[in-house]
Amino acid sequence: MQQNYLETTRDIYKEAAENPQVGLCCTTTPVWQLPGLSIPKKMLEMNYGCGSTVHSRDLVNNPKVLYVGVGGGMELLQFAYFSRQTGGVTGVDVVDEMLQVCSENFKDAEKQNPWFRSEFVNLIKGDALHLPIADNSIDVAAQNCLFNIFKHEDLKKALQEMYRVLKPHGRLVLSDPTCEQEMPKTLKEDSRLRALCLSGSLPLKEYIKMITDVGFGTVEVRAKRPYRILDPLQYDTDTLLFIESVEVCALKDPMPADGPCVFTGKTAIYFGGGDNFNDEKGHVLLPNQPLALCDKTAAALNALGRADLFISESTWFYDGGGCC
Ligand SMILES: C[S@@+](CC[C@H](N)C(=O)[O-])C[C@H]1O[C@@H](n2cnc3c(N)ncnc32)[C@H](O)[C@@H]1O
Repeated sequence: MQQNYLETTRDIYKEAAENPQVGLCCTTTPVWQLPGLSIPKKMLEMNYGCGSTVHSRDLVNNPKVLYVGVGGGMELLQFAYFSRQTGGVTGVDVVDEMLQVCSENFKDAEKQNPWFRSEFVNLIKGDALHLPIADNSIDVAAQNCLFNIFKHEDLKKALQEMYRVLKPHGRLVLSDPTCEQEMPKTLKEDSRLRALCLSGSLPLKEYIKMITDVGFGTVEVRAKRPYRILDPLQYDTDTLLFIESVEVCALKDPMPADGPCVFTGKTAIYFGGGDNFNDEKGHVLLPNQPLALCDKTAAALNALGRADLFISESTWFYDGGGCC
């Protein structure tokens, strides 16, 4: 009987645990350098992510962190760097061999980092589609380069699971490939390419819609960068496919009546002669002081057609302090 793509995925990551494959998924994104943090060589070789989910501003006030799809444990170590408490970080993975290697890597990390103890991270066997985690118990839930593998219904389930376990206002931090071109069906259906994070990517707008459809009221696009090319000589495609990788944070905020607030890095600058510009909807812009806008507010301000208001395009870089 033919394997389904989830079984193929487990096999591929069993193999990637037993024989580390440098560059399996990762981009050239520099690895976080933090004072007193030393990442073991094997963990670096097993960096199977496509961006970073560790952002210091998510990690104030001793958050309970959940990380799904542990890989070699590098991001778990980085989260533990900030939380430094027994069981402060929980890692879930469906592949026994990956959990085993990850825990061995933590032993190496202990030798290289006097502040680190393996007990800071609680490793649990479990599936992203049925998380063995209580409802409303997590402050920051992260996944890096796993959810893009899932097909539509499984992705929906994985996002619903993250939503379920997060506390109100908790944060889901994701890093995944996205692709604005239509991925050919043969590539989408190729279990191996999907598992290797090469052919499951959605256009960013669709990816964000899946996130907001499960209830996240605020979404921030924090970074977007080139990831891979699938070319007609090596893959079953007529055109060159350009894949990017994104870092997105979704907040379990209540859904606003007029739809989610999605920040894609748009900014307004008022440059008129008045003391300020006030849209009477809660947005006051002082002259020449940029204000980050969600796409909804940007569209509403654009629709005013004012000559003294500049509204930027999406920069795909948003780091807080916005309009809503
Ligand atoms: C592409 S790797 C990413 C690893 C890690 N996040 C990183 O950035 O290095 C995918 C990870 O997800 C795990 N995985 C695969 N299917 C899973 C599932 N259904 N539930 C939980 N983990 C899964 C794999 O064992 C592997 O550790």
